[in-house]
Amino acid sequence: MTGGTAIATPAAFLAAVDQHMVELLADRDGVVVEAARRPIAAGGKRLRPLLVLAARPRAVAAGDAPFDRAAVRAAAALELIHTASLVHDDLLDDASLRRGEPTIGALDGRSVAVAAGDFLFSRAFATLVETRRVVGDDRALAATRVLARSSKLLAEGEALQARQTRQPAITVEDYLERCRLKTGALFAAALQCGAILGGARDDDVQVLGRFGHLVGVAFQVADDVLDSGDASAEVVLGKRPGADLRDGTITLPMLAAIDDDAHLATALATPVADAEVDGLLARIRDAGGIDAARRTALRLAEEAVALVEPLADRFDVVQLRAIAARSVDRMH
Ligand code: IPE
Ligand code: IPE
Ligand code: MG
Ligand code: MG
Repeated sequence: MTGGTAIATPAAFLAAVDQHMVELLADRDGVVVEAARRPIAAGGKRLRPLLVLAARPRAVAAGDAPFDRAAVRAAAALELIHTASLVHDDLLDDASLRRGEPTIGALDGRSVAVAAGDFLFSRAFATLVETRRVVGDDRALAATRVLARSSKLLAEGEALQARQTRQPAITVEDYLERCRLKTGALFAAALQCGAILGGARDDDVQVLGRFGHLVGVAFQVADDVLDSGDASAEVVLGKRPGADLRDGTITLPMLAAIDDDAHLATALATPVADAEVDGLLARIRDAGGIDAARRTALRLAEEAVALVEPLADRFDVVQLRAIAARSVDRMH
């Protein structure tokens, strides 16, 4: 699967993960599978695979073949689940563009998109259990448990988001809980899988999970900041900004802006017409919503880094710090 060659760099690791995902989605014909291949081929930042690799314990040498083989499977599993969640999320959000390309829902219709998401989801678990062949049953089972739990939380996050739609009275804590569920849980799972497959101690696995939750929430806040920004963010986002306003998703920039501009709450409680979007985005910015949310994202990333600093002798904290920074640096 890793072609027998040592994986020396993150780029080589990601190439192996991509190749493995292609293998997992090959050998099957039909509209659903062909549709499922498109969002994988379209790319994406591959952040969750990088988190799996970044959690490799120092005790495992770089290029260790059994770890690499297991980590490639786990990273592919994380990316497949993430992509499945995006395919389903785009249905819930009625989105037409993802990773710069038309969504499955837009091209093939809702039924194909539901089935393609389910297909991607099932391939993830199929490969993760096979890590048992290189790292043994105990580690493979522990990693599978982590991924199953995070998938459940992710679904709860989407359900919570649906309940919070056009509810500007939700608190910042309600919003953060949604982010922990829909984004933090999978970030945490990616790190925990990497650490578990590398034989890390339980307490270290826990700390990496908490780091992942915080970085994931920071990342989601940064994404919500971009969605509340101007049209120039389309290039970074691969989708049109203002989507949250259009589909009634209340995000931190909006909540922070309401503190300063209480009338905004009334506008956010009812459907927003296309013609109103730019005006509302300007009000959110002018009320300080963007700056306040940016500060929150940076604070969460700093908190995350502080958690892993004490693990420096057992993990590559420089790498973890770089990932935390990268998760929030798209907002500038
Ligand atoms: C998008 O995730 C969904 C959020 C959690 C905001 P990414 O921004 O990681 O999406 P890709 O994988 O790069 O497309
Ligand atoms: C993405 O959430 C889906 C999950 C994290 C499950 P968002 O709705 O915030 O992400 P975008 O804005 O569609 O990329
Ligand atoms: Mg969405
Ligand atoms: Mg959504």
